[in-house]
Amino acid sequence: MNNLTWHQTVLTQSLRSEQKSQKPCVIWFTGLSGSGKSTIANQVEQKLFQLGQHSYLLDGDNIRHGLNADLGFSAEDRVENIRRVGEVSKLFCDAGLIVLSAFISPYEADRAMVRNLMNSGEFIEVFIDTPIEECERRDPKNLYQKARAGEIKDFTGIDSPYEAPKKPEIILKTQHLTPNQAASKVIDYLMVNGNLMP
Ligand code: ADX
Repeated sequence: MNNLTWHQTVLTQSLRSEQKSQKPCVIWFTGLSGSGKSTIANQVEQKLFQLGQHSYLLDGDNIRHGLNADLGFSAEDRVENIRRVGEVSKLFCDAGLIVLSAFISPYEADRAMVRNLMNSGEFIEVFIDTPIEECERRDPKNLYQKARAGEIKDFTGIDSPYEAPKKPEIILKTQHLTPNQAASKVIDYLMVNGNLMP
């Protein structure tokens, strides 16, 4: 941090937010692989678009194709993965957008770190609460099968831990909700929270 100066921009987050008629935030989807994070985040984003809101979706698999292509799944790499996407989420939020971030983000401490990066009320943690048995039954990418066969190491829920959130803003139990119903619950929260302005 030596010899660096923070340059205040003339355009502020609040001006950008006003222009977009919304209160920017980071909707952070956490859960096991195959729990439904991407599916639900995509549906939320579609609903936001239909409402005329401005958003951007950051998705684990996609980000690992580019920005985080140098990272694997060791504990150390996962920490760095979340640190970087936390910073990107903060920038996009500063740009006035409603950011949807869908990452397994298995460690409580890393999610808390991202929460602390944001202003109060800007971080909305959504726990996609799908039991591992159900994720494994769905196995959309055949990854559980590979992990059980020992072809993938450090797989979350198998031989790498997942720490469930203790106090998330929203819990979605996908066994009892369609993706559309789950997405509607997130939109309802944003309405009540004052993120979507007329
Ligand atoms: S995180 O743990 O660092 O937050 P992230 O959400 O970026 O994970 O990436 C998870 C995606 O990577 C999974 O949806 C899956 O498609 C893929 N993947 C590949 N190897 C693993 C692994 N060992 N554990 C979990 N996911 C993996």
